[in-house]
Amino acid sequence: MFKEGMIMERIVIEGGNPLKGTITIGGAKNSAVALIPAALLADGVCTIKNVPNITDRDALFDIVRLLNCDIEQDGNIVKIDSSNLKNTLITQELSVKLRASYYFMGVLLGKYKHVEMYFPGGCNIGNRPIDIHLDAFKKMGAKVTKRGHKYMLDAEKLHGADIKLRFASVGATINIMLAAVLADGVTTIENAAKEPHIVDVANFLNAIGAKVEGAGTDVITINGVSSLGGNVTYSVVPDQIEAGTYILMGALLGDNLKVDGIVPEHNKALFDKLSEMGVDYKLGESSVVINKCDNLKPTNVKTLVYPGFPTDLGQPMSVLLTQANGTCVFEETIWENRFGHFPYLEKMGAKVELKDRVATIYGKAHLKGTQINATDLRGGAALILAGLIAEGTTTIHDIDYILRGYENIINKLSNVGAKIKLEEYNVE
Ligand code: EPZ
Repeated sequence: MFKEGMIMERIVIEGGNPLKGTITIGGAKNSAVALIPAALLADGVCTIKNVPNITDRDALFDIVRLLNCDIEQDGNIVKIDSSNLKNTLITQELSVKLRASYYFMGVLLGKYKHVEMYFPGGCNIGNRPIDIHLDAFKKMGAKVTKRGHKYMLDAEKLHGADIKLRFASVGATINIMLAAVLADGVTTIENAAKEPHIVDVANFLNAIGAKVEGAGTDVITINGVSSLGGNVTYSVVPDQIEAGTYILMGALLGDNLKVDGIVPEHNKALFDKLSEMGVDYKLGESSVVINKCDNLKPTNVKTLVYPGFPTDLGQPMSVLLTQANGTCVFEETIWENRFGHFPYLEKMGAKVELKDRVATIYGKAHLKGTQINATDLRGGAALILAGLIAEGTTTIHDIDYILRGYENIINKLSNVGAKIKLEEYNVE
């Protein structure tokens, strides 16, 4: 709740400035937020490189410290020593700070056969239940006790199981891997999620001595081992979604804008859509150079699980669709409530018709700067895109959502010519 005199931050953008130069992509948020808890599975020290400087990282650090583990952080390098771990209750205050706190369920259940924590937090983009996670843990022999928002999971012995996911959930796939690597026997995950961060977590687990096969395919097999070694250094995969966000900015304002340090394959679904819309870009081995397109062709976009069009790029993509010469249909199939940004795009001048999870977008819209509010992480990124192309000044409030998942976004954009700044102000 805002109190008079409180210092708040907002983002202020002068729109219409071309983006020229190079933006380097950091480590993947949705991998790093799994790797930090996963490091506790190892006996000893793990060093994780390329960890993005985002507030979700700090929220995880608070939990790791609560569990009496040592953390050293130097820039994007994080050293975690779990030798003195004390498996204590993860408080509600820390559990609800982010969604990825749920990864401590798999880790502590897997290593200590006991975990006590609260229902995880995260952006309000849908109900976000964890039934798939809990059903899998039960299949592996865990007893789940729920009191209000508090969960206690206990297992005499955790054993392997054949688990078929009713939905290719990212969180459940990773959480099952985290629990299964130290379980007795073999676990198979059918209809597993295939996102790049799934593969990255599996590679890390194998680096500390686990036996995970098939990550990136529909079927993952985990052969449980008795212990996992430390003294491992691992580097987080580049962020597919951060890359996609800047690539979309390049399609709107790029003047030979280079987005560097990417894995092009991870954004194939996006590049396919940009080709359909007539955007000119040149792919390199780990970079893309992209130019503004003045005559965007309309297209339709439907978000899907990987390798389909990622839901986390849906909201930023919808801004590009407002600039197409014609009508586009955007359908969000993963989350029930990921249209919070559209009323603000309409306030800026976009023409959108919303029905359930389908948005019909009538381009080309002339956007004008105004006062708007971020409603969640990717919705906030979409509003930054809109502000960058809008006429005049756009002021974005509730920016904590954005800082949760985009490292140094203000610097990265101003370094390539955007007129964007973070501004402090007193609440009247
Ligand atoms: C992860 O969330 C990401 N978050 C999300 O990114 C991303 O949108 C999502 O995967 C899909 O790609 C992190 O990795 C921290 P899911 P997660 O389990 O694990 C339903 C961002 O912007 N479901 O794949 O919560 C669920 O309701 C964030 O970086 C159940 O019904 O997603 C949803 O409709 C936002 N029961 C669908 O599955 C469950 O037990 C996908 O959820 C689990 C999920």
